[in-house]
Amino acid sequence: MEIIHVSAECYPVAKVGGLGDVVGALPKYQQKLGHFAKVVMPAYQSPFMQGNEFEVVYDGWGKLGFRDFTVRIFREKTNKLGFDLFLVHIAGLTDRPQVYGYEDDTERFLAFQIAVLDWMEQWEHQPNVVHCHDHHTGMIPFMMAYCPRFRRLSHVPTVLTIHNAQYQGQFGWDKLHYLPPFDTWKSGLLDWRGAINPLAAAIKCAWRVSTVSPSYLEEISHQAGGLESLFAQERGKSTGILNGIDNEVWNPAKDPMLEQNFTVKTSENGKKVNKQALCAVFGLDPSKPLFTFIGRLVGEKGADLLPDIFYNALNQFQGEISVLVLGSGDPHVEGRLTHLKNLFPHHYNAYIGYNEQLSHQIYAGADFLLMPSRVEPCGLNQMYALRYGTVPVVRRIGGLKDTVTDIGDGGFGICHDQTSIWDVGHAIGRAYDLYQQEKRLKEIRKFMMQLDHSWDRAAQQYIDLYQI
Ligand code: ADP
Ligand code: GLC
Repeated sequence: MEIIHVSAECYPVAKVGGLGDVVGALPKYQQKLGHFAKVVMPAYQSPFMQGNEFEVVYDGWGKLGFRDFTVRIFREKTNKLGFDLFLVHIAGLTDRPQVYGYEDDTERFLAFQIAVLDWMEQWEHQPNVVHCHDHHTGMIPFMMAYCPRFRRLSHVPTVLTIHNAQYQGQFGWDKLHYLPPFDTWKSGLLDWRGAINPLAAAIKCAWRVSTVSPSYLEEISHQAGGLESLFAQERGKSTGILNGIDNEVWNPAKDPMLEQNFTVKTSENGKKVNKQALCAVFGLDPSKPLFTFIGRLVGEKGADLLPDIFYNALNQFQGEISVLVLGSGDPHVEGRLTHLKNLFPHHYNAYIGYNEQLSHQIYAGADFLLMPSRVEPCGLNQMYALRYGTVPVVRRIGGLKDTVTDIGDGGFGICHDQTSIWDVGHAIGRAYDLYQQEKRLKEIRKFMMQLDHSWDRAAQQYIDLYQI
């Protein structure tokens, strides 16, 4: 099959969170299954653009309301990611350093989607499926079906994968004229509660919808940023497919970012060396259990509670635990997490910002990784932690529920029910107790490092979905 993934992120070209990891890995595993998977994404101003060789496959122009834009699409020449990668350059819109966060993001991603379809419309053949990821590509199923300009694509099946339904990309009806002409009696498909809602439009128009874990599919009928009833309505064409991880990138035996590589067999010493190196950099005591957090500092991750959670735990365990945070997001949370450094100088530290290498070093050197998420469609951090022998301490929700079993139920993680200071504090206490049981912890580590969360299974599940 020929599968076209359209996405705003793809690791290692551009990554803000898990979407980048997924789109950087799933196509590679689909290729391994014998299919032709391609990724099409915006050409941001990034080191990847400068450090690689490309050929131009398309030169054209598009229209966004009264504004014309020029498009140039590049193909990465060497296939180094394990699949064909296409980068869509739109002068003045995509060629910026950040992926998101600009005032004109609506225009940027609309222009991107129109450019992709203009290009595909000119192909001599049609792909088997166009696979869209999140709201940034959510107008594609509608435009393919109802814009005469893309008539040749109108019978190509579209799949929408929802990585996070909290983000929907809504914009006002005053921007309707940005879209290419379409069958106007279909405009109701764009609407959700009085605005144009790309995620809602995609849920309505895509041939199939998937969420990134089975539990999240159940949860969004009750909690989905206002789209609950729509999900319930479209349940029949929806499936939950649990994300995998890229076992080549996330492999402690080969990971070039670690102080020392390790396997299941050498994990005790390997983790020790990595922990020592990490603690040396952050002025922490490596003989104490190391609790960590990696992620976006936003409400859905429970990040607003972290300062109080850590403050309480550091007081309660009086110098008997170490804590390290890596993250960025809400400036207020960033400020409070930074302030804690002054209160617990040798027991707590935080790196505010994004640092890919440090994230690998933390997964390898930590004892525990906290994920007190309010919403977690899948979560990849816990799977990376498992592969690197770090015990996940997670809330039972979404993908966390589908991937982590509590030690009390014969499992390998520590689970709690609510995103509350009390629940997480209690979980930290249980983790502390586990740390004291050296033999049990060693066994759990070895067990979880051998769990198979690779993309092999899920890549096939998507192929099955395309063929239903
Ligand atoms: P989400 O996509 O909701 O942010 P995921 O768990 O699916 O959550 O994926 C998060 C990804 O982003 C992981 O690869 C994680 O290691 C990475 N990540 C998050 N924050 C940072 C950061 N500050 N520095 C480096 N990597 C980060
Ligand atoms: C989103 C979700 C996260 C998921 C990721 C990849 O960012 O918040 O839970 O793991 O997408 O699918």
